[in-house]
Amino acid sequence: MAKVGFIGLGTMGGPMAQRLLDAGHEVTGYNRTRARAEWLAHLGVELADSPRAVAEASEVTLAMLRDTQALHDVAEGPDGVLAGLGPGKVFADMSTVSPEASRALSARVAETGARMLDAPVSGSQVTLLAGRLSIMVGGERDVFERVKPILEAIGPTVNYVGENGLAVTMKVATNLSLPVQVLAFCESILLAEKSGIARDTAIEVLLNSVVASPALQYRIPLIVDPPEEPLFDVHMMQKDLKLALEMGESLGVPLPTTALSNQWLTAARGFGVGDRDFAALYEVLAGLAG
Ligand SMILES: NC(=O)c1ccc[n+]([C@@H]2O[C@H](COP(=O)([O-])OP(=O)(O)OC[C@H]3O[C@@H](n4cnc5c(N)ncnc54)[C@H](OP(=O)(O)O)[C@@H]3O)[C@@H](O)[C@H]2O)c1
Repeated sequence: MAKVGFIGLGTMGGPMAQRLLDAGHEVTGYNRTRARAEWLAHLGVELADSPRAVAEASEVTLAMLRDTQALHDVAEGPDGVLAGLGPGKVFADMSTVSPEASRALSARVAETGARMLDAPVSGSQVTLLAGRLSIMVGGERDVFERVKPILEAIGPTVNYVGENGLAVTMKVATNLSLPVQVLAFCESILLAEKSGIARDTAIEVLLNSVVASPALQYRIPLIVDPPEEPLFDVHMMQKDLKLALEMGESLGVPLPTTALSNQWLTAARGFGVGDRDFAALYEVLAGLAG
């Protein structure tokens, strides 16, 4: 069992840290808003006062943060992760952030004598709690092999993708599909509904049809029964699409459905549902369909 650090104990990070505890690891954690992580202290996570203190106390430090800015904020400065890393330590960032920023940070981590992995996840809190999360990893292979058993306690599926930055690249490429699928599904529901088919019936038939993906299976029920706490809000979904669009532009890969979905997420913010789960796209389309 290892000394594992965990920075960013939010919707995903909190239950991930809990799984590490359940697997028998010694976990030191940090969350910017400490009150949000108190429940983990009751379970046995040692809450530290800074990202630096977490990195100092841990052999392997994981992070699950909102975006690239948050990663920058916890990494830099006298109390940042970089200040607490050193030879033999590993920092694995599991957030969905800019691949370019992730690669640049891995070079800074190497300067401390430590090594970095990008280890983003595919799934949601529902998938995580059900023990079906999928993790993709970028970085040096031997570092990956060393950290793999720790990630498997969160996972259980852990795939090596390639060098630093490639896993988070794969994650961005994967995620652009989410709102595209949700939008198409909403169009199907609305067409059925306005033709006189009950919404619940339309949803049930669609979820039993060939077009239902695992991602739709857990998100579409949120249309009928919106969660109090979003699994993944409109702002965060749009963050991922913006990363994809930037990559598409610089690589010369047109992403027409991503661009269109991005516009619909902007419309959702205009509708005042930016803080809701992005299943609220249904309400935007339904509003336009009268
Ligand atoms: N939710 C999902 O279904 C899902 C699925 C796959 C991947 N992801 C990815 O996982 C990451 C985390 O998502 P989440 O749903 O767990 O988000 P979340 O609940 O909003 O948690 C975000 C975490 O980042 C911290 N944070 C934000 N800005 C910060 C800053 N400037 N400095 C320090 N800490 C900061 C938050 O601290 P506070 O508590 O203080 O705000 C919190 O611990 C994101 O990159 C997301 O794209 C999410």
